[in-house]
Amino acid sequence: MSKLIALEGLDGAGTTTQARRLADALAARGRAAHVTREPSDGPIGRLIREMLTGGHAIPGAPIGQATFGLLFAADRLDHVQREVDPALAAGTVVISDRWYHSSFAYQGTGAERGWIRMLNDRARRPDLTVFLRVGAEVAAERRVAAGRAQELFEDLAMQRKVAAAYDDVLAELTAAGEAIAVLDGEQALDDVTASIVAAVLAAL
Ligand SMILES: Nc1ncnc2c1ncn2[C@@H]1O[C@H](COP(=O)(O)OP(=O)(O)OP(=O)(O)O)[C@@H](O)[C@H]1O
Ligand SMILES: [Mg+2]
Repeated sequence: MSKLIALEGLDGAGTTTQARRLADALAARGRAAHVTREPSDGPIGRLIREMLTGGHAIPGAPIGQATFGLLFAADRLDHVQREVDPALAAGTVVISDRWYHSSFAYQGTGAERGWIRMLNDRARRPDLTVFLRVGAEVAAERRVAAGRAQELFEDLAMQRKVAAAYDDVLAELTAAGEAIAVLDGEQALDDVTASIVAAVLAAL
């Protein structure tokens, strides 16, 4: 049976880099892997990306987190139905750069918490989630070094809040029986890849 692996972490933690490296490592061991991401490349995911990067001027007040919460949940259902489930059914390992843990950490704080959880009730639970733990400052330095354009949620104070929210979310989901590996994402690229591959091979 094929498995869904989610990679999670702060912006700059290395999830995109490591998703690709993990797929290559699995392919080298004869396991076909499909790399995907959230927001997805489907219609709702593309809309979210456009809203996050502010690619066009949106008149009026900033878009609220509740709106993003709804869109991310809708994108996730669409992503599972049209891309993830078919790939799993074909026997491919699916590696997703972010999953609902991101919604819980970024949108699911404060008053919206229970509601965001409910919106994601039907989302497929990953067989393994790898959280790349990187300090908010290190993540920020990497984003600057990479010359990355600032996204809406990326200021340092916000990243510190998100880091704390991730800690709560991961503890709760682990207590609820979800398989989550927390790995040190501050190590050198190859070392991080090696830890991820070891955790994933143990889960497959
Ligand atoms: N272990 C590492 N050591 C040093 N640099 C790293 C490491 N992992 C990633 N980087 C670098 O940090 C930058 C951000 O990495 P990456 O794009 O993979 O992060 P991300 O988690 O996908 O970020 P975002 O959430 O913003 O998409 C890249 O330039 C990448 O090369
Ligand atoms: Mg990325």
